[in-house]
Amino acid sequence: MIPGVARVLLLLPTGTYKAPDFLEAARRLDVDVVVASETAQTLAGAMGDRALVVDLADPEASAAAISALAARHPLDAVVGVDDQGVMIAALAGKHLGLPANPPEAVARTRNKAAMRAALAEADGSRHPGPPATGTSDAAGILRQPAFRVVSRGGDVVAAAEAIGWPVVVKPVSLSASRGVIRADDPAAAEAAAARVWAILDEDCHPDDEPILVEAYVPGEEVAVEGLLREGRLEVLAVFDKPDPLTGPYFEETIYVTPSRLPEPVQAEIARSVAGAARAIGLTEGPVHAELRIDPEGRPWILELAARTIGGLCARTLRFAAGVTLEELVLRHALSLPLDARRETMAAGVMMLPIASPGRLVAVHGQDEARAVPGITALDLSIPPGGEVRPLPEGDRYLGFLFARAPTPAAVEEALRSAHSHLEVEIVPATA
Ligand SMILES: Nc1ncnc2c1ncn2[C@@H]1O[C@H](COP(=O)(O)OP(=O)(O)O)[C@@H](O)[C@H]1O
Ligand SMILES: [Mg+2]
Repeated sequence: MIPGVARVLLLLPTGTYKAPDFLEAARRLDVDVVVASETAQTLAGAMGDRALVVDLADPEASAAAISALAARHPLDAVVGVDDQGVMIAALAGKHLGLPANPPEAVARTRNKAAMRAALAEADGSRHPGPPATGTSDAAGILRQPAFRVVSRGGDVVAAAEAIGWPVVVKPVSLSASRGVIRADDPAAAEAAAARVWAILDEDCHPDDEPILVEAYVPGEEVAVEGLLREGRLEVLAVFDKPDPLTGPYFEETIYVTPSRLPEPVQAEIARSVAGAARAIGLTEGPVHAELRIDPEGRPWILELAARTIGGLCARTLRFAAGVTLEELVLRHALSLPLDARRETMAAGVMMLPIASPGRLVAVHGQDEARAVPGITALDLSIPPGGEVRPLPEGDRYLGFLFARAPTPAAVEEALRSAHSHLEVEIVPATA
């Protein structure tokens, strides 16, 4: 294919952190871009058939609008970019005959109860299948926490008791740890469920949307960035999350790659993610998975999404010839050649914690934090005066600290040192 004539449609919801990085990747590949978003305002500068207003809450109608646009002016790829766009991209890809995930597989990644059901269905221990063949995407044992789906008015405590304490109560349809709460006893489970229902009400979710109660899986957590091509998974990066994530809320902080876990454990992680993608039915494009590693070194699948890593975290990754993750995603979508080997340097990011609710006054110590050796960037995503809300209700990141160094330990050290210079000044919203 000749770069410069290829045309890609990017679904860029107003709230996405990823718009500039995907637009930059398209620019570097010299492809034509059409932006689809929910308001004309987001489409700043984009005109005519380069801009499309879609209702992200209505994937069928949005995909139909994309197909109509493609009939006037053909598209070579449709990229979902973030959670809100992945269903639309799958449906449009199907209409247009592009290599894309099956819509029903993507739907399973958008509903944690459906995802658990798909993984349970494929669970080798319950439904013995053919023996593993030992290749990296051979069917291994898929481990996931025991779970129960609870409807409104349903008995959360009975569900937790059937599973065994402690449990994690969570919404089926949110992300970024919103509404994910650990509960160690009946009172905590009731309180957690009430809080999750309140978040869903605030977001106007339908009354019949259930919540999930899962066994709490102890152990270290990792995130895996991968790329599926014709059903085969290539692991792009495994991130360790060196801060303890024991709840009751699960605020994400430090991610460091490459992982310091032993090679055999990492191989098992890769097999688990490949098995999970297959069980869910995903075949094409980026996947972002989270797993816990139990004390025996066995991975447990927490979840898998059909998109790249959240927030600005993809900025930690550089591949052969300095290619970004977004460029890899676009190259894959356009069937262009790609080399998915990550650079050898260690890299990491710290999502800056939000300690209390209110208005952000200032983040002090930014110069000192940036001056720490190994720190490559500090990006604050909430402006002074902006509202901040901690988990479990909050849904925005305060900002991101990035580091690169020869070793993962040095990256972690740089991030911790830089963070220690930052003082986040927040005043209560009513003050
Ligand atoms: N069953 C579980 N056991 C232990 N920790 C969990 C469990 N489920 C979720 N968590 C913690 O909560 C975080 C967010 O949960 P997750 O299911 O990934 O939802 P989200 O889509 O909001 O990221 C996880 O990264 C993990 O730290
Ligand atoms: Mg998650």
